[in-house]
Amino acid sequence: MKKVIEDALNAQIEKEEYSSRFYLAGAIWCETHGLPGAAKFLYAHSEEERMHMLKIISFVNDRGGVSKLGAMEKPRQEFESLEELFTKIKDHEVFITNSINELYGLTIQEKDYTTGNFLQWFISEQIEEESTFNNILDKIKLVGESNISLFHIDKELEAMAGANNNLG
Ligand SMILES: [Fe+2]
Ligand SMILES: [Fe+2]
Repeated sequence: MKKVIEDALNAQIEKEEYSSRFYLAGAIWCETHGLPGAAKFLYAHSEEERMHMLKIISFVNDRGGVSKLGAMEKPRQEFESLEELFTKIKDHEVFITNSINELYGLTIQEKDYTTGNFLQWFISEQIEEESTFNNILDKIKLVGESNISLFHIDKELEAMAGANNNLG
């Protein structure tokens, strides 16, 4: 594996690990603000991001590179509302999508089609992730943030956490 590809994959490992910590911070906020369903959903999502990180780590190591762990910025832990939290999460997923796309572009440029092929999974995954968080955000905006609305959104997120349990 070329050094430039290895470095770019290591940068992505760091971003996936950060995503996992960011969603962990969101889960903690939800759990301490009376939203156990949303917390369950975000704890599960934090695990998913860890799986993304591990997937890249094992690819880099398998292809003759060495995975490197980076220093990590502390994620934000205070949010004004559930809508603000999920807006930040959606924005973060868009940032990750752009990062994966750039990485894919680099593999084309460097003619590393093996890594390009590996990244296809992440490209599809990002389409799903963006759509999931857009849908959640639309719902939060639609119902508003009265206590009763939050109660229902929380139940829905809890159901989504259960439904996604078996997915990578
Ligand atoms: Fe991810
Ligand atoms: Fe994600």
